[in-house]
Amino acid sequence: MVSDWRVPDWEEAEEFVRLFHSEHPEQPIPLSMRLRQIREHLEQTGTYRHTRAELEFGARVAWRNSSRCIGRLYWKSLRVLDRRTAATPDEIHTHLLDHLRQATNDGRVRPVISVFAPATPYREAPRVWNSQLVRYAGYRAADGSAIGDQGQIGFTEAVRRLGWQAPGGWFDVLPLVIEVHGDKPQLYDVPRDLILEVPLTHPDHPRFDALGLRWYAVPAISNMRLSIGGIDYPLAPFNGWYMGTEIGARNFVDQDRYHLLPVVADVLGLDTANESMLWRDRALVELNVAVLHSFRTAGVKIADHHTESQRFLTHLAREEEQGRIVPTDWSWIVPPISGGLTPVFHRYYDEADLRPAFALDEDARTRAEGGCPYPH
Ligand code: ARG
Repeated sequence: MVSDWRVPDWEEAEEFVRLFHSEHPEQPIPLSMRLRQIREHLEQTGTYRHTRAELEFGARVAWRNSSRCIGRLYWKSLRVLDRRTAATPDEIHTHLLDHLRQATNDGRVRPVISVFAPATPYREAPRVWNSQLVRYAGYRAADGSAIGDQGQIGFTEAVRRLGWQAPGGWFDVLPLVIEVHGDKPQLYDVPRDLILEVPLTHPDHPRFDALGLRWYAVPAISNMRLSIGGIDYPLAPFNGWYMGTEIGARNFVDQDRYHLLPVVADVLGLDTANESMLWRDRALVELNVAVLHSFRTAGVKIADHHTESQRFLTHLAREEEQGRIVPTDWSWIVPPISGGLTPVFHRYYDEADLRPAFALDEDARTRAEGGCPYPH
């Protein structure tokens, strides 16, 4: 038995296939026959294989069930790339680059998921150690100060131990670390021309532009396990487009990320001596103005939190019409700035834990935090 193997639960498989047939009644194989087939496969081999249509539906519903995602209105349009046959790190790498290409779409960012081989009793599923396909490295300088994305310091150290030559800058794109069935993980650089990035400028503060900030166009989460009908897909990277606040109110702002508010306040000429002057809040708003302005100017799709909140309410209404509940985590849905200005703030939500689902992969998380499963 391989380490990430979990025997698919018959009840979960059945529940999923019933859901699929209830939402897509015109299937070539009738429900009863498909259920019998799955039961036989489970008994004989300990697992079963999703049809393409099941996989596509399963991935879309996993998104629909993601209680922390405000962007679920477009769940039906998720592009599902079936990559279950990719076996070698080279093949997986090629598909990951193709994912980035299709998702980036010259700036007209579209939601895509690539589903790689599931865990089976005989073979460990492939993995990517990175938490996103594109991420900037982080370093701790000798004097204790940080350079780059502090959230990536542990992971950056792990890839350096694997042999990565770190440039040591503020926006170094990390290499992909691909691991198949317990072999030594392989490092791959992502070609520059595949990574769309946006230089940050502010519409009315030229001093801001000189900071040289930038961010990438496509947030592609690669450390969440997709679980459909009892089958686990540990490698199933997916992306949507950014909401501005993710970059302008968290990535650049959190104390354990880029921690830039003091710097932004300085270029804006704000007096930072007194908290009650709200210099943090003023710097925060201008930083978010810069993010949205820069993406718009560069022709890269991004949403502001007012628009995305409205869309989420539309999603809630549509789902309710279909008689479905929308599991929602208030603390993730309410934007990190101007929460009370958005309609999503002023209500309660259902908190169910529905399947199919995405779950944070504990393994990938410990690795991302610097734990590396291999001795050096
Ligand atoms: N918050 C994460 C980031 O800033 C990305 C999470 C997914 N976001 C999305 N818009 N699909 O990189």
